Amino acid sequence: MSARTCLTIVLAAGEGTRMRASRPKVLHAIGGRSLIAHVLTTAGTVGGAQAVVVGPAQGADQQAVVAAVKAAMPSAVLFVQSERRGTAHAVLAAKPALARGADDVLIVFADTPLITPQTLARLRRALGQGAAVAVLGFRPADPTGYGRLIVGPDGQLLAIREEKDANAQERAIGLCNAGLMALRGDVALAILERIGDDNAKREFYLTDAVAIARGLGLAAVVLETEEDEVRGVNTQAQLAEAEAVLQRRLRAAAHDAGVAMVAPETVHLSADTRLGRDVVIEPYVVFGPGVTVEEGAVIRSFSHLEGAMVGRGARVGPFARLRPGARLEADVHVGNFVEVKEARLAAGAKANHLAYIGDASVGEGSNIGAGAITCNYDGAAKHRTVIEDDVHIGSDVQLIAPVTVGKGATIAAGATITEDVPPGGLTLTQKKQVTKPDWQRPRKKK
Ligand code: UD1
Ligand code: CA
Repeated sequence: MSARTCLTIVLAAGEGTRMRASRPKVLHAIGGRSLIAHVLTTAGTVGGAQAVVVGPAQGADQQAVVAAVKAAMPSAVLFVQSERRGTAHAVLAAKPALARGADDVLIVFADTPLITPQTLARLRRALGQGAAVAVLGFRPADPTGYGRLIVGPDGQLLAIREEKDANAQERAIGLCNAGLMALRGDVALAILERIGDDNAKREFYLTDAVAIARGLGLAAVVLETEEDEVRGVNTQAQLAEAEAVLQRRLRAAAHDAGVAMVAPETVHLSADTRLGRDVVIEPYVVFGPGVTVEEGAVIRSFSHLEGAMVGRGARVGPFARLRPGARLEADVHVGNFVEVKEARLAAGAKANHLAYIGDASVGEGSNIGAGAITCNYDGAAKHRTVIEDDVHIGSDVQLIAPVTVGKGATIAAGATITEDVPPGGLTLTQKKQVTKPDWQRPRKKK
C-alpha cells in the first residue's frame, strides 16, 4: 500500500434482534473470535490502526463491545450512535474522526466478518486511482433485500437503489451492494453531509453517497467480489454459514502450510490456530482459541484443545483434552482420556491413559500411570504439583497438592501422596491385601 493514510469506520450499532440472543450481535464468534474482532483485525492489516467503531448506546452492551474492540485493536476509538437512523447517520456519528482527515475512508460492517484484506486493499487502490467512491458489489444467488447497483454504459457506477425504493426494472438487477465502501477523505464529509432521509425507510442511506458524488462531478466505481466474502450475519443460521466459510478457509490455509488432514471437514479450527509443518491432524479434532502445534506433532482423533502449546513431535490423543495453560514440550505423549490444564510437561514426558494433570509441572522423561491424578483443588484454592525429571508415577496414584516428587523417584500403584517425596527410591502407601476364603457372594434365587 502507498503512503496514503486511512481511517476505518466500523459500523456496529445494529440491534441484532434476529439473533434472539442476550449478547450483542457483533460479539458472537466464528473461529473462536468475535465478529467485530475479525473485522478490526482485517481492517487493521489494510488500513492501519486508525480505526473507529460506531457502537450502540445501551450501557452493558456498549461496555462489552468496547472491551472486545480494545482487545482486538487497543488504538481504536468508540463513537456512539444514540438513535438508529441509517448507515450514513451511523458514519456521521464518527464526524470528529472524519473532520481530522485521512486520504482514504474505509467503511465496513461489524456483522460482515469474512471480508478479506485483499478486497479492502482493492477498494483503497480504486481511490488512489481517482475514484471518490468505491463500492463493493456482488451477485447473490438471491438478491432480495439488497441494494441494487445501477451502472452506466461506460461501466461507471451511477447510483445505488435500496430495494424498498427500487422499481421493478431496478429490482431485476443482479449486481448488489455488499454494503462496504471506500470514500476519498477530502470529499467524504461533503458527500456524507449532503445525504438526506427522503426515502421509503426515512433513513440516512450511506448508499446515496454514489449519486451525490456523481452530482458533484466525482467518479464512483464498483468492484466485484464473491458472495461468501460479504455474507452478513443476522441470524444464528447465518452465523453458522459464516463459520462454515471461515472453516473452509482455515483448513485450506493449513493444507497449504503443509499440515496433513485426511478428513478436513471434520476438523474445527480457530482463527488463531497455529500449525507447523508436517503436523498430522486425524479426523474429528477441535481447536479452541489459542493453540499452537509445532512441527511434526500428531493430534489424534476426538481430541479437544484450547489455550495449549504442543511441541515438536508430540503425540496427543485419541480422546485427549488440553485446556488453557497446557504446555507439552517436544516428544511428549498424552493419550486417551488424559486432561491437562495449566501444566507443563517437559520433553519426553508421558501420560498415556486416564490421567488428570492440573496446576503441575512434569519433568523430562517422567511417566504418569493410568488413573493418576493431581488433586489440585481443596475446595477453596488451587495448589501445585511438581514432578521432577525421570519420575515414575504408578497407576491410580493421587498426588495431594501442594506436593513435590523428587528426581528419579518411583511411586507405587495406588499410593496417596500427601507429603513431598525425596529423589530416588520407591514410595508406597501400603494397603494390605486380605483374602476371606469362606466369604460368599450373595446370589439371586433362580
Ligand atoms: C445495507 C445497504 C444495502 C446493502 C446491504 C448489504 C444501506 C442504506 N444499505 O442495507 O444497500 O445491500 O447493507 O448487507 O447502507 N448500522 C448502524 N446504524 C444504523 C444503521 C445501520 O450502525 O443506524 C449498521 C448495522 O449494525 C450494520 C450495517 O450498519 O452493521 C448495515 O446496516 P443494515 O441495517 O443491516 O443495512 P441493510 O438494510 O442490510
Ligand atoms: Ca444488513
